[in-house]
Amino acid sequence: MSVLGPPGSGKGTQAELAGQRFGIACFSTGDLLRKAVREESALGGQVKALLEAGSLVPDDLMGKVVEEKLRRLEPPGSMILDGFPRTCPQVEILDRILERLDRKLHLALALEVPDPEILRRLSGRRVCRSCRATFHVEFQVPRLAGKCDGCGKDLSIRKDDRESVIQNRLRIYRSETTPVLELYRERGLLKEVQADGAVGDVAKRFQKEILQACA
Ligand code: AP5
Repeated sequence: MSVLGPPGSGKGTQAELAGQRFGIACFSTGDLLRKAVREESALGGQVKALLEAGSLVPDDLMGKVVEEKLRRLEPPGSMILDGFPRTCPQVEILDRILERLDRKLHLALALEVPDPEILRRLSGRRVCRSCRATFHVEFQVPRLAGKCDGCGKDLSIRKDDRESVIQNRLRIYRSETTPVLELYRERGLLKEVQADGAVGDVAKRFQKEILQACA
């Protein structure tokens, strides 16, 4: 399945919770790209400036990254794709990858959150520098201010969580990703989930859609 939604709508949070509950592997394209930047790999060098500006990585490059990840899925099984596809060409690229792997997309879950809430979530997000766990200064407060609950290392602010970059990410979401929702709606694969409210309440709605799609 694929998880869609504007920046900060909770894709990563909900994908991880559903993955834990149903024992499904999760793959976030954003996490993978940030890791490549941290490790200063060739891929990282290609995408660093794009990530910091909140711009999209070219479709062909994303297709290669996603195919490599899906081919390496061990054991082969279900996967939650967090943040892919996010353009119409990426929908076609994913179709071709899944065909080559003899796999199928069963569900596209789109999270819906009003813009003011998105700004609140992204401006308050804090990420562990070491284990990458995510916190929020209001909604998921770390036990010790500025420190990760899990490993105790410092928390930091993502470079693309500055307000000017958030606005660019939202603009790109509307122009490039909203048409993806329409494509999946036409195919009967799209389910929309109201994603404002507490994390646990959103998780109930999100996971109910997964259960219904599997029934
Ligand atoms: P990516 O990391 O996917 O960024 P994004 O789509 O902008 O989404 P975020 O990670 O910011 O937010 P999220 O929806 O996962 O929310 P989260 O759960 O963290 O991609 C980064 C970049 O990589 C892109 O800009 C692009 O450059 C590139 N990229 C990635 N995929 C690509 C693709 N397919 N094609 C081309 N380029 C690509 O939650 C946010 C905050 O809110 C957290 O602090 C969390 O604690 C809090 N929160 C979550 N849920 C709730 C709730 N219910 N109530 C209150 N707070 C909540």
